[in-house]
Amino acid sequence: MVKSMHNLLFTPGPLTTSESVKLAMLRDAGSRDSEFISIVRRIREKLLLVAGAGSEAYEAIPLQGSGTFGIEAVLSSCVPEAGRLLVAVNGAYGRRMVDIAQRLRIPVTQLDGPEHLPIDVAEFERALAAERGITHVGLIHCETSTGIINPVEALGAAAQRVGATSIVDAMSSFGAIDLDLLKANAAFLVSSANKCLEGVPGFSFVLARRADLLSSEGIARSVVLDLPSQWRGLERDGQFRFTPPTHALLAFHQALQEFDAEGGITGRAARYAANRATLRRGMNELGFQEYLAPEHQSYIITSYRYPDARPFDFEAFYSALGVRGFTIYPGKVSGANCFRIGTIGRLFPQDFKALTVAAREVLAELGFKPGTLMRGEIQ
Ligand SMILES: Cc1ncc(COP(=O)(O)O)c(C=O)c1O
Repeated sequence: MVKSMHNLLFTPGPLTTSESVKLAMLRDAGSRDSEFISIVRRIREKLLLVAGAGSEAYEAIPLQGSGTFGIEAVLSSCVPEAGRLLVAVNGAYGRRMVDIAQRLRIPVTQLDGPEHLPIDVAEFERALAAERGITHVGLIHCETSTGIINPVEALGAAAQRVGATSIVDAMSSFGAIDLDLLKANAAFLVSSANKCLEGVPGFSFVLARRADLLSSEGIARSVVLDLPSQWRGLERDGQFRFTPPTHALLAFHQALQEFDAEGGITGRAARYAANRATLRRGMNELGFQEYLAPEHQSYIITSYRYPDARPFDFEAFYSALGVRGFTIYPGKVSGANCFRIGTIGRLFPQDFKALTVAAREVLAELGFKPGTLMRGEIQ
């Protein structure tokens, strides 16, 4: 099915990128070329600007691999043996952070909250008070399994009051939702190239507070994920320690210029919010129900409940949309049958209009009557 290779991706990443970002990869850069080294330097500088972080306080460290590699690099090279982690969990990515910590044998406590609600700050404070010796907290900004936004700044401030620093997974929000690193007391923030900055997959990046980076020297439990060494290497000669994803970095450099041209976080947030508004209208008309209450729903990704007026075959729905040129995403909520539609990437409101027109056709093919997808609605 050749067509599906050219689909629009309504996913949380890898996501749809612009033609010009794809074209930027049509050359072979030598990893030691001075031009390539200066591109890496500019990317690092730009990431600090996007974060609103002063270059005197923070460092931007790109690292080969997907976003999870960045999270594992931080946990494995910056939480000392005597450290203790508290992770606030309301979805799959919080659980993944706990998994990584357990595998690394880092003492970890998991504060579980319901998946349909943001992490409760008062409960988080109680967990911090109950658990002595917490040195680090793990926080997820946008929990992509539902699309919910957690109050990372308030949670980070609560951690600071007990002397703990925050490790923030901002994978699917960085570049589209503002986050004050100082308020969040973020020692480390992790995101990746193929999310809201609209690059292609190939590397993650960590924004690390220099003081915390320096005090992490010698902790690393892995060679390739050794974050302070990766930083030292970049500082020494501008190069990655091991083969860099050259094409992905060229694409990202272009993507950052397009990010600026769109007006940075403000411009990007406005387009994503317009995408989400168009999606919401179209899906409401069809009779789909959102998993989250509107006040908790971000413009990053939306979880929709399966229709239940009759048996719903998600694979059939997914494939029929796929052959029409639209790739959506399966769900990741543990207690409800859902699928997800991402509103990030190089997509515009008219793409969401087209998606919901196609969804109407597909629902009819599957025997659903638009407007009456859920039991209890007027037939
Ligand atoms: C919040 C969050 N954390 C971590 C990840 C993992 O990133 P990757 O799949 O690039 O390893 C994702 C991926 O979507 C995510 O949304």
